[in-house]
Amino acid sequence: MWLYLAALAGLYYLLRWYRERQVVSHLRDKYVFITGCDSGFGNLLARQLDLRGLRVLAACLTEKGAEQLRAQTSDRLETVTLDVTKMESIAAAAQWVKECVGDRGLWGLVNNAGIIDPVAYCEWQSTEDSLNILKVNLIGLIQVTLSMLPLVRRARGRIVNVSSILGRIASFGGVYCCSKYGVEAFSDILRRELRHFGVKISIIEPGYFRTGMTDMKKYLGRVKQAWEEAPTHIKESYGQQLFDTFYDSVKQGLLGCSTNLNLVTDCMEHALTSVHPRTRYSAGWDAQFYFIPLSYLPTSLADYILTRSSPKPAQVV
Ligand SMILES: NC(=O)c1ccc[n+]([C@@H]2O[C@H](COP(=O)([O-])OP(=O)(O)OC[C@H]3O[C@@H](n4cnc5c(N)ncnc54)[C@H](OP(=O)(O)O)[C@@H]3O)[C@@H](O)[C@H]2O)c1
Repeated sequence: MWLYLAALAGLYYLLRWYRERQVVSHLRDKYVFITGCDSGFGNLLARQLDLRGLRVLAACLTEKGAEQLRAQTSDRLETVTLDVTKMESIAAAAQWVKECVGDRGLWGLVNNAGIIDPVAYCEWQSTEDSLNILKVNLIGLIQVTLSMLPLVRRARGRIVNVSSILGRIASFGGVYCCSKYGVEAFSDILRRELRHFGVKISIIEPGYFRTGMTDMKKYLGRVKQAWEEAPTHIKESYGQQLFDTFYDSVKQGLLGCSTNLNLVTDCMEHALTSVHPRTRYSAGWDAQFYFIPLSYLPTSLADYILTRSSPKPAQVV
């Protein structure tokens, strides 16, 4: 009986492996537009796809980032500056992409740009910071997608949206999690709506990785700033001791970030080049072996696991 089940499971994985390793043809003629290429996953993916021979259209937030990327890549890679929070910037980028790709259309759109800071308890986050996170991570992603969609439809191409494992289980990070849950919902809706156009949507859900976003000094500085700028009555409710413990746990978490960014960019590359891309890619050991299993547990059990060692606020009732 067990032998029979093991053979079935083996056969399933063998078939899946065979199916997933089929690669689309004419990769050198295919254009891929990536947002947030100044640093981190976007930057690495741009260089990786350029090496593979695809035609990369890399959007950077700053001209300096674009210049640095061009210096590291082939002449085939082209750059544009794009701020995903500005409609006029998105419209200009979409027009530029349209001119670059011509009748071929856009094979791949990778919505990667994102921000996290400050990571704090919801009550410590200012409205301005919360709105900013939503504007970059969610509204910007939706606007870029809708602006590029006619070009992607023409190529019967791919959309790759970078969410987070925090878009599967909101364990930490306040409004950042809300933005990533939004990315998951938008991607699910879009996948169902675009099914008949031959456009495929993949969602990337990385665990914790060391990038510009998780830069220790910047990250901890913003955590501290959020706490210092919180109203006095909020600080009294939570207490300095809770903040200090939270701050130390964030620091420990950052020290544990994976440095192997290829775990994420290989998923993105697969989503763009495989004949049969996956709907969701969870990248990183923490994502696959801790957060995903946790997300399937009953909520009360997940709550217990996630909060059992959390510090207690000063004014507990
Ligand atoms: N690192 C992780 O552990 C992790 C985990 C899960 C998900 N993610 C997601 O992965 C994606 C990439 O992040 P990363 O980790 O590679 O961090 P990163 O190195 O900070 O990359 C984010 C990129 O987005 C750019 N960006 C920021 N605001 C922008 C705006 N308004 N318009 C256009 N571009 C903007 C940044 O430009 P500047 O560098 O010039 O600021 C940077 O190039 C994000 O969506 C993030 O949420 C990261």
